[in-house]
Amino acid sequence: MKKSFGFLLAAAAMVVASLDVKAQAPSADIPADMNALMSKYTCIACHRPNQRLVGPAYADVAKKKYSNEEIVNLIYNPVPSHWPGYPPMMPMKQVPKEDAMKLAVWINSLDGSPAKKSTTTKKTSTSKTTKTTKKTT
Ligand code: HEC
Repeated sequence: MKKSFGFLLAAAAMVVASLDVKAQAPSADIPADMNALMSKYTCIACHRPNQRLVGPAYADVAKKKYSNEEIVNLIYNPVPSHWPGYPPMMPMKQVPKEDAMKLAVWINSLDGSPAKKSTTTKKTSTSKTTKTTKKTT
């Protein structure tokens, strides 16, 4: 017990030390404003844009193709069954909607695939129309 506590202390000291070094230079793949929000609301403790930590990489969240609103809702009301193999995230209700939306927009922008706008709008799938029986004689 004592041993692991000592280890935790050492680990904490290392974290503090490395934070100190990096204080001026937020991780390259996190824009400064997002880094600020991630730190303020502690998301940074569990999430990185491109790396699994305690929680999934945001790039992987982006691949799920949620709408920005859905992500905001998931920040307030996580659905752990979306992420088997991860511990449940606690609801982050302290994040103001405005900031949650900023994070959501950014998270969605991290989908590795090249930005293809608007092609994802649901195609009207009423496929009754074109079943013209081709009588090629
Ligand atoms: C203590 C660790 C922790 C913190 C802090 C944390 N998360 Fe998470 N997050 C997780 C874990 C673990 C999961 C996957 C399990 C789950 O969804 O409950 C997750 C999942 C998510 C998802 C995916 C939801 C889904 O259903 O697909 C989003 C989006 C997310 N987090 C955003 C955030 C944001 C934004 C913050 C900061 C406001 C934050 N998280 C803070 C651990 C954390």
